[in-house]
Amino acid sequence: MCQSRAVTETVLVLGGGGREHAIVRALARSRPAPRVVCAPGNAGMARDAETRAVDAVDAVAVVALARELDAALVVVGPEAPLVAGVADALREAGFATLGPGAGAARLEGSKAFAKDVMAAAGVPTAASRTVTSVADGLAAVDAFGLPVAVKADGLAAGKGVVVAHSRDEAEAALRASIEDRVFGEAGASVVVEEGLTGREVSLLALCSGRVVARFPAARDYKPVGDGNTGPNTGGMGSVSPVPDIPDALADELVDRVHRPVLAELARRGMDFRGVLYAGLMMTPDGARVIEFNVRFGDPETQVLLPRLEQDPLTLMRDAAEGRLADGPVRVNDGAAVAVVMAAHNYPGTPRTGDAIAGLDDAAAAGADVYHAGTRAADDGSIVTAGGRVLAVSARGDSIPDARSRAYAAARLIHFDGAHMRDDIAEGLDT
Ligand code: AMP
Ligand code: GLY
Repeated sequence: MCQSRAVTETVLVLGGGGREHAIVRALARSRPAPRVVCAPGNAGMARDAETRAVDAVDAVAVVALARELDAALVVVGPEAPLVAGVADALREAGFATLGPGAGAARLEGSKAFAKDVMAAAGVPTAASRTVTSVADGLAAVDAFGLPVAVKADGLAAGKGVVVAHSRDEAEAALRASIEDRVFGEAGASVVVEEGLTGREVSLLALCSGRVVARFPAARDYKPVGDGNTGPNTGGMGSVSPVPDIPDALADELVDRVHRPVLAELARRGMDFRGVLYAGLMMTPDGARVIEFNVRFGDPETQVLLPRLEQDPLTLMRDAAEGRLADGPVRVNDGAAVAVVMAAHNYPGTPRTGDAIAGLDDAAAAGADVYHAGTRAADDGSIVTAGGRVLAVSARGDSIPDARSRAYAAARLIHFDGAHMRDDIAEGLDT
């Protein structure tokens, strides 16, 4: 069906982080540009779009908002609403929605389910056992040897994985999850997995049924400190392309990972319409899946969408409506690098309320400053309101070029307690 876009259409974007800000900015580049409304959004998104104080996981409220807006498309940013079935409720109410239903969202919401799908689909992943007692967990640790990954089965805001280098560390992680329930019910069952070594890569694809439109590879820098030291975070920076994952290899990985998973989901009666994100470890024995996400990555989206050379709204809508063309999406030949500026004490409980200066200077320097944890103070100034505060993203002809632009722009921004890694995309050449 070919629909006219003469009348301004409305897109509803659910979420309020840097990823969603990048989605909003990309949608604004579409022609004709849609009206974009975000729920709940953040202070940066409020500068580029309308925001509404609606909770993204509240399916009834989200459907009511989509009705009020007569939304032509709803883009679900985070995993929580997907796992909660918000995409199902929207589709049942007749709205084109980018994001899988709760059934397929279990690929991210349950590591045990993801393992089951991968086993059935023949997708390469680490050997694992799912356990519900510390004793069974320790038996699995002894069987796999060290290092070993101990993973809470359910959603744990990116904090549910411990890569243990000693039996004591593995035991502590098992006890914390199973006995102390530090992740609540999400950690009642635990996946114990053989430790893998290699470089990590994020391979995201828009998917619609069995059709796959992949993005170029991206890399996310998870530990808080330079040289990958310190605790894991949601992601301190990102880069695309990834020189060690050329396009031909990315195509091969999609054939070995995304396509079989979509086929297995289809066999189980699930029509996946959204983003399938494979987190891969490139081991000496080949690629292994370490996780699936069922949404755009954060901060990968902040480097992938700026490189897109197709109309973003058309692409997302085609995926939501089952018209997606198979094959890689078109991106520019250059590179993009994003540097995350985090709040004091992140990834521990972050301090909030610090005034942010220099946002306009960084934008004037040519960077895309995506807001993540920000809010407008009563006097209209922008203050910190979360752990990851901003992602400063820049494009360039090469990775070193994009990298120096991103850092130059980030250094124009100041807030008390701000910290960033200095080595995002360091040593990568294209
Ligand atoms: P996940 O939340 O599953 O992505 O895991 C968080 C991080 O833990 C990953 O980005 C990896 O760095 C690490 N990790 C996960 N699984 C393994 C594994 N089997 N072996 C080694 N490291 C892992
Ligand atoms: N960059 C990791 C994630 O989006 O989960």
